[in-house]
This record gives sequence, C-alpha cells and structure tokens, in this order.
Amino acid sequence: MCGIVGYIGKKEAWPILIKGLERLEYRGYDSAGVALMNPGEILVYKKKGKVSELSKFVKNKSDKNIGGTVGIAHTRWATHGEPSDVNAHPHLSMGGNIAVVHNGIIENYLSIKKVLIEKGYKFKSDTDTEVISNLIEDIVKSTKVSFDEAVRLALLEVVGAYAIAVLSKDDPETIVIAKKGSPVVIGIGDGEYFIASDATPIIEYTDKVIYLDDNEMAIIKNKKLVVKTIGNEIKNPYIQKLEMKIEELEKGGFPHFMLKEIYEQPRSIKDSMRGRESAKDGVVKLGGIESFQDKFFNAKRIIILACGTSWHAGLEAKYFFEEISKTPTIVEYASEFRYRNPVIYPNDLVIVISQSGETADTLAALNLVKEKGATVFGVCNVVGSSIPRATDAGVYTHAGPEIGVASTKAFTAQLTVLLLMCLLLVNKKETLNKKEIKKLLEELENIPEKVEKTLLCNEKVKKIAEKFKNIKNFIYLGRGYGFPLALEGALKVKEISYIHAEGYPAAEMKHGPIALVDENMPVVFIANRGKLYEKVVSNMMEVKARKGVVIAIITEGDENIKKIADFWIEIPETSDVLVPFVASIPLQLLAYHLASLRGCDIDKPRNLAKSVTVE
Ligand code: F6R
Repeated sequence: MCGIVGYIGKKEAWPILIKGLERLEYRGYDSAGVALMNPGEILVYKKKGKVSELSKFVKNKSDKNIGGTVGIAHTRWATHGEPSDVNAHPHLSMGGNIAVVHNGIIENYLSIKKVLIEKGYKFKSDTDTEVISNLIEDIVKSTKVSFDEAVRLALLEVVGAYAIAVLSKDDPETIVIAKKGSPVVIGIGDGEYFIASDATPIIEYTDKVIYLDDNEMAIIKNKKLVVKTIGNEIKNPYIQKLEMKIEELEKGGFPHFMLKEIYEQPRSIKDSMRGRESAKDGVVKLGGIESFQDKFFNAKRIIILACGTSWHAGLEAKYFFEEISKTPTIVEYASEFRYRNPVIYPNDLVIVISQSGETADTLAALNLVKEKGATVFGVCNVVGSSIPRATDAGVYTHAGPEIGVASTKAFTAQLTVLLLMCLLLVNKKETLNKKEIKKLLEELENIPEKVEKTLLCNEKVKKIAEKFKNIKNFIYLGRGYGFPLALEGALKVKEISYIHAEGYPAAEMKHGPIALVDENMPVVFIANRGKLYEKVVSNMMEVKARKGVVIAIITEGDENIKKIADFWIEIPETSDVLVPFVASIPLQLLAYHLASLRGCDIDKPRNLAKSVTVE
C-alpha cells in the first residue's frame, strides 16, 4: 500500500518518477506527489486523485520547474487523513529543509507530534508521515549531525512500519532510504540509482537491484551507496539480478490488466508447473523446499495462513491435502490468527500464501509462527518480497507480475503449486498409487489447454453480465471444491463491480440465506459433474422452487442442468480436484464484464490497493 519512487543520477528525475508512479499505482491511488531538488530549495507538487491528476496539474502549471536530477515521489493509499492535496506525500518539514515519502504507519506519531508542537513546529496535514520530516529537521537543527545521521536518529524514535525516501535541501546530492516492515528496492545503474517499492519501475533501466532488509537504511551520496543498519552497523549489500520482463508490465492490447491476466492463465499455470513434475514418471520435484523436505514429509498437520483470494486458494488446498494426502489441514485468516494464541505443534507444517509477498497480516502471522518454533513454507508470486525472505523454504508461483488489483492468474498459479506440494506428500506417504498419481499429473498437464478452451466462453459470459449489470445482489453457491470457488467468485464481483455478493456452501442455504431468494436474486452455482453433483442439483432445485434465477457453471454437455438453469456456462470435463482451475475462469470473466458494463475502474477499484502492507 502506497508506492514510493526515487531517482538520483544524471538524467532528469521527473519523467522517471512519474512513470514509476504509474507502474506503482496499483498500490494506491488516493493522491500522488513528487519532490524535486532544485538549487537552494525542494520543489513539491502534489495532487489528490490518480497519478494522471498529478501529471495534468504539473503540465498546466505556468511556473513549473521540473528539471532536477534528484527526486522522490509517492502514490498514496490513505490511512491517516483523508485523500486530499495537503495529505498527499511528499511531506516537507516546517522549514522546507526535509522532504519525505513514506509507505507504512508510524504508530507513535501522536506522541512525537506533541513534542514537536511544544517546540514550535506547525503541522499542515493529518498524516503520520509529516512527523518524520519535522523530526529529522529538528534533529539536524538541534544536534548539528549530518543529514543521514539525523534520519538514522529519527528512526530510532519511530515505532511502526515504514519504507521511506528522504531529501534534504542542504544535501542536494543525497537520498536516504530506510525500511522496516514495508518493501523497498534500489536499482543500480551507471552512476545513477533508482528507488521503488517494487522492481516494476526499475526494470526498464537496470536489472541489478538490492532489496533492503528490515531495520536497514541506504545512503546514496555523491554517486556512492552505503547500506547500514539503523543501529549503525555497515552492511555488505547483496546485488541481485531481476528476471522480470518489461512486456509483462504492459497491457499488451487488452483494455485492462485484469482481462490480460485472465487470458494469461494457460501460460501462467504452465509456468507454475514447469520443471516441477513429470506425469510420465509420476514425480514431483520442488527445489525450493528440498532442504526442509524432512519437516515437510513428517508433518502431522498442515496450517495454511493467508488473506483474501490467497486464503481461498488455501481453502481449496485444504480439500487437496485432506482428500489426497490424508493430512489434516486447517486454513486461517492471517489477520485473525496473529492475534490469537494459536497452538502450534513441533510437527505442524505451516504454509503461508501471498501473491505480493508483502501482506502485513500474513507477514505478522508468519513471524508469530516462527517465534513459536515452527518451520514455515511460502507460496508467493513476487520474487524477493518480504514473505519469501522470511520463510524457511518455499515455492514461487511464477505467474509473472499481477497488476490488476483483483487477483486472477495468481489464484490459479497458487492452486497449481499447492497441488504439486500435495502430490509431493502423496508420493511420500503413498496415499495414492503410482498409476493414480500419474493420471492426476497428466490431467494437470492438460489444464492449460482446458483453460484456453474455457476462455472461449468470454462472449457468452458478457451476454449474461448484460442481463445482470443493474442487479444489487448475487449469491454464489458450491460444494466441495466448488465452495471456495463460490467465495472467490463473490469476492471478485464485490471488489470490482461494487455489487453485493455472498459466497456460501450450497447446502448451508437452507439454514438462513435461502430467505433472500426471490425472482430478483441471481444465484451462481458451481455445478460441475462430480462427486457432489446430485447434491448441488438438489440445492439448485430448491432455489428454482423459490423463483431464484440460476446461472450455472456446468460440465460440457450437461443437458440435465441446461433444462433447470436460466443461464449456463460450460467448462471442460476434469476430475473434481482440478475443477477450480477451469471453473474460476467464468467467475473471473463474469466479475470483469459486470464491472466493465457498470463503468467501474476495473484495475483500480475504489478503496483498494494491490499490496496490503498495513494491518
Ligand atoms: C482479491 C485480492 C485480495 C488479495 C489479498 C491478499 O482479488 O487480490 O483479496 O488476495 O489482499 O494479498 P496477497 O496474496 O498479496 O497476500
């Protein structure tokens, strides 16, 4: 949440910063701003709204001065203080000497603010961030230490999470960056440095990056970079090579990233399994967890921790792990788990799932589990992000950058990796025989093709969406593997089309929600031909008996449901375990088209951000 960008070098900073903000806009779009070094002053331009508003504002300014080669910028997801020009970052200190951009929350900002007010400091914004710039200014004034030392001393006083980039009017060739709990990456170019919340603004300039660790700061001064801890210990930074490709960050002809990412799934699922399994030999090989294989194989219970869509993938995995590998599995919302006093046994296997690898609640739950001595495995998409760096071992999903705020391809990639983890366990525990394992892997290898085929339903789904675009509520129902899908389908609709939707286990309907059903209530059923088919059909009949409107996701050629449902979308035949891979496609498309027909901002839904780095 919130994106920060910085540049120091010989090029003009403004174009690099504004482009960087566009790349990071998925992290928040309440306001945007930039601070540029100018001889003798720091120029700050900021504006409520999206990055394009800032661009327009600067373009239309008659007195604009955007020629500097050093600057920092920010796109905001509001926490403290409403979205407004004044609450937008960067925040200048009262004397105009220090400018700060910040991602995170300063928990003790009120007490710091009180002390500064007593010293005569005046605050313009309602943000927690403004205390950082004033505190640094105050330390410089009162102690006469250097700018970077003042930042370090200020951070010793600060409690909370932050990634910050700081400029000082008196040190025009310096940027100071620091991190605790929120991500920051530094790209190393030829005599120039790029700073960003993730690597997406950096990749077009350099593939050499340093990820700061928690409690570390970087001082870039006169073209030299020094990394040290907030405790003042010099560190030797590890320079990594980025694997990302620039085309992955463009819409590639699609109107929205979300649609592009839905269509990428045949490829992203393939990438998630590439080199990790062989149906011919019936084997699964996950290099990322090999060194902790014993822990993995000896698990008596699996605990899965995640949030949102990743939690839904975890819930699907519970069905895999229990049904196929016979391992008891619990799935917990990380945000609830972290504040309980959960019981963890030494032979528990903990798996955390996160697309971004930055979700604050998931990270906190992970740290809690580690404190309790458990070994933690990660299933993450963003390479080098905080969660994979904190886990003991893990498997990347390799879905490629997911930019649309609504998660789509990351979900099916998570399912792929979790199923492979499950089959690794199955192989060891021999809960299926070799022939059964080979058959499942063969089916998994065919999934990208089946997803490709399922995508052909797009036009039909769009027509269905036309009929329901003005509806106020939806119910989504499924059983077994269809139940987490019902939750996921409902979440997608809520978050991007702002239509209220409830996901429910189909059989639970009669315990309450069925009271909502009448001729105005569309009910989406995940009704593939599988183990629970007859049961789901009975639930569908119950809805029809109350005049509900049924939209059914059915197995290709199911003439029976075609006679019952008002609308249907066919998916290719596959075994129950693999249904979530194909059935999620029409659910994603339905949400997409509803949102598109309602004129919603699909890639940047209101109030949301892609990477939830605050709790
Ligand atoms: C929904 C969505 C969110 C995320 C959740 C967890 O479409 O994207 O619900 O799934 O915020 O994010 P990660 O997976 O990055 O931990």
